[in-house]
Amino acid sequence: MKKAGSATDPLWYKDAVIYELHVRAFQDSNGDGIGDFPGLMSRLDYLQDLGVTCIWLLPFFPSPLRDDGYDIANYNDVNPSYGTLNDFKLVLDAAHQRNMQVLIELVINHTSDQHPWFQAARLAPPGSPERNMYVWSDTDKLYEGVRIIFTDTEKSNWTWDEVAKQYYWHRFFSHQPDLNFDNPRVMEEVLNAMRFWMDMGVDGLRLDAIPYLVERDGTSCENVPETHVKIKEIRAVMDAEYSNRLVLAEANMWPADVRPYFGDGDECQMAFHFPLMPRMYMALRQEDRLPITDIMAQTPDIPPSCQWGIFLRNHDELTLEMVTDDERDYMYYAYSADPRMRINVGIRRRLAPLVDNNRRRIELLNSLLLSFPGTPIMYYGDEIGMGDNIYLGDRNGVRTPMQWNSDRNAGFSTAVPARLYFPVILDPIYGYQAINVEAQLSDQSSLLHWTRNMIALRKLFQVFGRGTLEFLSPANRKVLAYIRHYEGPDGHSETVLCVANLSRFAQAALLDLKQYESMVPVEMLGYVPFPPITDQPYAITLNPYSFFWLELQPAMEAPQPPIPISDEEAAEIALHPIDVPQTAATQPDVSRAVVPDAS
Ligand code: NOJ
Ligand code: CA
Repeated sequence: MKKAGSATDPLWYKDAVIYELHVRAFQDSNGDGIGDFPGLMSRLDYLQDLGVTCIWLLPFFPSPLRDDGYDIANYNDVNPSYGTLNDFKLVLDAAHQRNMQVLIELVINHTSDQHPWFQAARLAPPGSPERNMYVWSDTDKLYEGVRIIFTDTEKSNWTWDEVAKQYYWHRFFSHQPDLNFDNPRVMEEVLNAMRFWMDMGVDGLRLDAIPYLVERDGTSCENVPETHVKIKEIRAVMDAEYSNRLVLAEANMWPADVRPYFGDGDECQMAFHFPLMPRMYMALRQEDRLPITDIMAQTPDIPPSCQWGIFLRNHDELTLEMVTDDERDYMYYAYSADPRMRINVGIRRRLAPLVDNNRRRIELLNSLLLSFPGTPIMYYGDEIGMGDNIYLGDRNGVRTPMQWNSDRNAGFSTAVPARLYFPVILDPIYGYQAINVEAQLSDQSSLLHWTRNMIALRKLFQVFGRGTLEFLSPANRKVLAYIRHYEGPDGHSETVLCVANLSRFAQAALLDLKQYESMVPVEMLGYVPFPPITDQPYAITLNPYSFFWLELQPAMEAPQPPIPISDEEAAEIALHPIDVPQTAATQPDVSRAVVPDAS
């Protein structure tokens, strides 16, 4: 009998809106300066209200925290700083009660050097199963030429171990030895860890650093066929024992190299689309849609059960590994004026500072995130436009405490400020007194309200998570226009035209919409009908950095203005601005598209 996950639809991840957070950064409940599970529990209402449907928790396992928890010392427990296993379980159950799924990390390429397996391996005789939990060599010349990922800290993928008297292999920090997938005991342990969390009820696992599982001499040691065999094995066990669960591939690769991680629908259901991310920023800065249309043209089709995970920012640097040398130079020039903003092969900045805190640019990028094919993943704090601190080491500048209000420590913790795991952002633009949840909740025109409305709107249309994508090619390349189309199983279909102005100046464009002749584009935020489409080019004008989402409706269903509402209803909407179905409730086709106060 398979153990079911919390979602009822096996393809739940296609309609999800994922929110990525670190429990350490979200809310401290006991005043020790470190966020914890009881703290997260107290903020679940916030996440539900924001409208996200899935929480992705960054690593929360026992760890020396030299790579923010991606250096795991015990797979089957919770880091005591964050609470207990039971505290985690309570959060998991409470999220499920709110119809939110929970995605956690399965970091299997490597462990911490403090993991008991590594400590035992060092002491065990060479060639023994204990030693062979990791990848050892007498020489550091094996696998020569394999690239180094953490270029700022590591000079080699091998480190000499004085106790073992051998070199061990590591693709990341030297304190993160790679597990040896040629040893069957490693797979047994991986499956044990998977079962441990899936038995508890987690809905999905992000497979960290998955391209590097297996090493083979004479190759780049990335994406080798034997690695895919391992992933298929993990997926097969998951499918045999569990239902409605997800594995998400973290493979920072070109689209063609990511494609095999979906297999024939028998590897990962989801994979991040890494190359799209920097190209959204590039298109914005160059005021030219080409970087986006180009990478999407290189993006292969994926099996029907599969889905891209798309994002603007995450807990790492804005990686520039999957761009050309010229593109990388341009991105560094355009987005990291201060060299401190750079780390490894990327830029360690949050969304708002990257776009100079320009609200229209933030909204424009989010409109792409929420309307491109795939499941959007939002990084905590970006919904309020949080800033970063480039003076913290590593990638920690984008991992500072969540800013809840203007009280001490941004309402994150009652600890003395010096005790916080990282200082809160204090500068006059992004500091917690200027940027915080409480203030933005009480401000109807805040970024937070806008984000809530956009999430609510997206969730009304399955086309965004499940539909096809077709770019239009207006002569004006500053305008990005695309059609999303979805044929539902019940004969119901949705067609949405998205138009975005990438320029800082107003733009006009003529769109070839002949195939939709006589349909009426209806602006989806305000439910405003635009002139019907004819056989002539469709003229559209856009303010700087503005966008439209237009549902194409048959003319006969052309919308009425939203029906008048009573004073009581108006007051209710003001209190619950995303309570979408409360307006125009008598016109189902109309009400779907109405989100009050989307200004
Ligand atoms: C990818 C994670 O996103 C990153 O934060 C981490 O440092 C590396 N994997 C190594 O685990
Ligand atoms: Ca705490």
